Amino acid sequence: MTVVDLALAAPLASTGRAAQLSLILDHDERDRARCFHHDADRLLYITAHALTRHTLTNRRRSIDPSAWRFSVGPWGRPHPVNAETGELRFNLSHTQGMTAVAVAEGVDVGVDVEWIRPDDWIYDTAGTVFSPAEVASLVELADDERRDRFFLYWTLKESYIKARGMGVSLPLELISFARTVGEEVTLDLDPSLEDDASSWAFETFRPSTEVRGAVAVRAPSIELELSWPDLS
Ligand SMILES: CC(C)(COP(=O)(O)OP(=O)(O)OC[C@H]1O[C@@H](n2cnc3c(N)ncnc32)[C@H](O)[C@@H]1OP(=O)(O)O)[C@@H](O)C(=O)NCCC(=O)NCCS
Repeated sequence: MTVVDLALAAPLASTGRAAQLSLILDHDERDRARCFHHDADRLLYITAHALTRHTLTNRRRSIDPSAWRFSVGPWGRPHPVNAETGELRFNLSHTQGMTAVAVAEGVDVGVDVEWIRPDDWIYDTAGTVFSPAEVASLVELADDERRDRFFLYWTLKESYIKARGMGVSLPLELISFARTVGEEVTLDLDPSLEDDASSWAFETFRPSTEVRGAVAVRAPSIELELSWPDLS
């Protein structure tokens, strides 16, 4: 069983506290935080990055939250480069009202949180990002269930592409999820993706009524160690 630390936090409400917390971020992170036009986006960004640093430190107590250094891969995924990092890996996600960080040892890990938009235009995108089997399963559902299933598939797909570190360079419609009656999630991958679907485990979570989340890990099974650190 692979244990994944999943830390969740609502975005900070106070710009004063955000200014204090941003002191633990590095120059690049602070520059990016300054670029946001809206305070809400800045607060979300600072919360997610401070949460990441604290969650990583929980696994490597010798490294202070402010001491983490990162480098980014070819498709933009950040990874820690401190000497003591070892095999520690993480992924973060932010959406309206929620930030999430997943940390695991020695295995690819991805996390996604999405605010469940109430608008129906979301379904216009289904044909380009969902597999034919996913689209067929959405069509047969009632409205409320369809919206929930849409974001279930969406967060699972994002958690998978983020765990692989390749982002939307992977063709989303070739990654196909299904939910069985017993609520179990299954993955089917097109052979062109050159990956073994059975080597992945997924867990979904609902941090609030408006937000859905999913974690992907390249491991036979997954156990989420959930926490809500207080950053306020
Ligand atoms: C990764 C990606 C799927 C994120 O989607 P999203 O739902 O909008 O955003 P989320 O909040 O869930 O995740 C964003 C976080 O994922 C991480 N991330 C960025 N690129 C990533 C990647 N390729 N794989 C995994 N994680 C990535 C970052 O930490 C980012 O947070 P930050 O911008 O605050 O540092 C999307 O941005 C993507 O596909 N990026 C790749 C773009 C690309 O191909 N760039 C090529 C540059 S040459």
